Amino acid sequence: MIKKYYIIIIGITLISCSQTNVSTTSNNSQEQFIDSILSTMSIDDKIGQTNLRGTSSRAKTLSEELKEDVRQGKVGALLNVMKVEFVDELQKIAVEESPNKIPLIFARDVVHGFKTIFPIPIGLASSWDTEIAESSSRVAAIEASSVGIRWTFAPMLDIARDSRWGRIAESPGEDPYLASVLGKAYIKGFQGDSLNNPTSIAACAKHYIGYGAVIGGRDYNTTIIPEPLLRNVYLPPFKAALDIDVATVMTSFNEINGIPATGNEFLLKDVLRDELKFNGFVVSDWDSVIEMIAHGYAKDEKHAGELAANAGMDMEMTSKTYENHLKKLIQEGKVSEQQLNEFVKNILRVKLKLGLFKTPYRDKKNEANFYKKEHLSIAKEAAIKSSVLLKNKDLLPLSKNTKVALIGPLANAPLDQMGTWTFDGEKEHTVTPLEAFKKANVDFKYIPSLTHSRDQSTSEFKKTINSVKNSDVIVFIAGEEAILSGEAHSRASIDLPGAQESLIKELAKTGKPIVLVIMAGRPITISNIINDVDAILMSWHPGTMGGSALQEIIYGLREPEGRLPLSWPKAAGQLPYFYNHKNTGRPANKEDYVSMYDIPVGAWQSSLGNDSHYLDIGYKPQFPFGYGLGYTDFKYSNLQISKDTINFKENLMVNISITNTGKRPGKEIVQLYTQDVVGSITRPIRELKGFEHIYLNNGETKEVTFKISAEKLKFTNHKNVNTAEEGDFNLWVGPNSSSGLKSSFYLKKK
Ligand code: GLC
Repeated sequence: MIKKYYIIIIGITLISCSQTNVSTTSNNSQEQFIDSILSTMSIDDKIGQTNLRGTSSRAKTLSEELKEDVRQGKVGALLNVMKVEFVDELQKIAVEESPNKIPLIFARDVVHGFKTIFPIPIGLASSWDTEIAESSSRVAAIEASSVGIRWTFAPMLDIARDSRWGRIAESPGEDPYLASVLGKAYIKGFQGDSLNNPTSIAACAKHYIGYGAVIGGRDYNTTIIPEPLLRNVYLPPFKAALDIDVATVMTSFNEINGIPATGNEFLLKDVLRDELKFNGFVVSDWDSVIEMIAHGYAKDEKHAGELAANAGMDMEMTSKTYENHLKKLIQEGKVSEQQLNEFVKNILRVKLKLGLFKTPYRDKKNEANFYKKEHLSIAKEAAIKSSVLLKNKDLLPLSKNTKVALIGPLANAPLDQMGTWTFDGEKEHTVTPLEAFKKANVDFKYIPSLTHSRDQSTSEFKKTINSVKNSDVIVFIAGEEAILSGEAHSRASIDLPGAQESLIKELAKTGKPIVLVIMAGRPITISNIINDVDAILMSWHPGTMGGSALQEIIYGLREPEGRLPLSWPKAAGQLPYFYNHKNTGRPANKEDYVSMYDIPVGAWQSSLGNDSHYLDIGYKPQFPFGYGLGYTDFKYSNLQISKDTINFKENLMVNISITNTGKRPGKEIVQLYTQDVVGSITRPIRELKGFEHIYLNNGETKEVTFKISAEKLKFTNHKNVNTAEEGDFNLWVGPNSSSGLKSSFYLKKK
């Protein structure tokens, strides 16, 4: 025994001294280092690394049981340890007392900010701005790493086409191209230039895969996604994440075509590992391994662990099927130790890249890096860039001496303004519209009226109506409390909750112009009130600095710069809805459409206009993908393409002139869409292929150029062939997905 012990000591000494200076850059030395650790690990030690233990961020004491588990090497990572003294103590135990001295990774959902809170992700997606996406996650990483968090469960890359789904709030919207460019930016911000920088945190591309396609927008529900759809819509953002070396991937709760993602060998092995060459590690979602029992895919916990292991899931979040059953499964030959070795190597590789072997303890000099001036200024910038002006009947911006009645349940809601997934944001730091109006010393009076978004009381209506008599304009901050969106919070109706609509209708009767600001985690259906208001500004849940951003936009210091990252529905019954839909054999059009109440009584069946539309609300969204107004106007002219025909090796250059025809400088997001007219499978009527931010002074004209290559026109068909196909293409350059100047070209094979 002594002999064996002696060898181990040498082993550990050799390894421990080499842990301090192993090169984390060259792959070869990385793999040698990882193999050297692996060679000293018992099967129990290895299983310990696959265990992500959940804890409560509100725990006042550190459990002795948890400390002992860490001491015995039973834990590889910890979730929600939010007291820095606990982080330091647990890491010390792992690094100095556990069998292999392997450091822990501390994880947290740092989704859109840690202390300084940015707009919710669907808001940030409205910025179409990779710089602000990167800066916001960089700030989040700096703040979170200062308390020892080195792994976040973000960005969420789930394409979402159904606003009933609560998690659309966390999504990048409905377009794969936009989601891909933003996803890369978030990951770059979180992971920094190098993962072993102490302010870098490992990102996690989630939820792999297809979670946004849940039936009916009901969270955790079933998804049915044919492989071409999976590869053309849901996979691209994850591929983009892998292209920028995202450290981890999280499996989703949903089943895809009958097989839960967490036990899906095709997705985790064939696609993620073999095809896309992912070399980080895959973590389950919270208890998603044992949820395979409820799915009806696993008989019991041991079987769930076997399915997850054989699918290639490396680390188990919160449930303990690996801890309790993996050793037995290996002894029974149902899982091999080689598979376990791969899990551990993937995990150790990320820990090594994070520099944890060299610097396991958090960088205390970075402590309390919270709410720094530059962090708050980036948060305000993000809120301005995320705000989308949807309607403006010559009302905004207001002049400073306009007498304003500030009303609505979100005018002073510091907690709700931060939105979902903001456990660490402190509402005391939130600048609400009320506070921003006060600070700006504008001429307004605040009338609380409804106390929260679901308030159904009309008791304050009379007083509110009377109070607006001496005002020039009503600014109504409507919306949803934060709890009405996010995980597990889907809604069947997505109207304004409570008595908000009724109050807006009563206020409209006063004849005062109304600015409707919506703070919500999803698009809100506003068909009932859209004609009662003169301006509509969507600010999503805008985060810590949302009030300041709104005040500056409403008074014209800045213009709203956002564009919709999703199609805004007229009614929940229209969902799922998305701009990049197929044409169908009977595409809806205005010639054929007959509104329900225009159909003659006793009409003969054939007169209904046989197209794909709704009798009551037609076939268009309230506002299209890519839509958003500013405070000036732009004219698109002189669309030119370099050739009528290109082959697979040539680029098509697309040129257009944009003129600011309005009275003030402004920003436009110029968008390029293409359509593959005929394909070996039917193709979307439009697909976003590029966009460009331009700023123009009034009267100024600029040219914008896009480049189209066959590479950009590739898609996967039903035979799993991923290629562009010869044929006719249309293209549009414009301000959103339903307008723009059109041209066409031919893609020729040779
Ligand atoms: C949740 C979410 C996931 C999150 C995880 C840890 O259930 O689905 O997005 O990262 O648990 O909190």
